[in-house]
Amino acid sequence: MREKDLGADLESVLITKEEIDAKLAELAVKIDAEYAGKDLLLVGVLKGAVMVMADLARALSSRVTMDWMAVSSYGEGTQSSGVVRILKDLDADIKGRHVLIVEDIIDSGLTLSWLLSNLGSREPASLRVCTLLRKPDAAKVDIEVEWVGFDIPNEFVVGYGLDYAEKYRNLPFVGTLAPHVYSG
Ligand code: XMP
Ligand code: MG
Repeated sequence: MREKDLGADLESVLITKEEIDAKLAELAVKIDAEYAGKDLLLVGVLKGAVMVMADLARALSSRVTMDWMAVSSYGEGTQSSGVVRILKDLDADIKGRHVLIVEDIIDSGLTLSWLLSNLGSREPASLRVCTLLRKPDAAKVDIEVEWVGFDIPNEFVVGYGLDYAEKYRNLPFVGTLAPHVYSG
């Protein structure tokens, strides 16, 4: 599905594929510089971060390894519960490693805040965050995020990994969902 096939469920295209590609290339240069000469472990948060992870990892020149974690804080709705459950833990120990969490979106920040303290307790050499999207107006906790792609308005967005009830993850762009889809 492309922009022309938005259909009735999507309201608008917020960030195009071209804008995402350009932003990830820009972030990759900074991340490469920061971790020069170090082994970097990218930790992707399933499932939303799959697209960001795939594209960011390929934009980096550094050799990286990847691991995945799946957590749940949302169920099928659009509101963070703040209660985080590990559905899939990392495969490997991160003690002494340079870890970069790769996220699709920071909304309330509750999920990430929980992840940072959970992974932080495993004694990594460093622990930082890169997120494609952030909603500053939705923040409930103050978190330091080193690399942010785009600050966006406090609207529910889908595409490029982000879903509504597991749909729309394969859209190549980020779009806003028409309110009737989730309020009806
Ligand atoms: P919090 O509120 O804990 O949320 O920062 C983090 C996770 O919630 C999901 N999320 C969204 N998913 N459109 C989505 O498709 C959105 O607008 C949205 N806001 C939050 C997402 O999985 C994120 O990692
Ligand atoms: Mg996520």
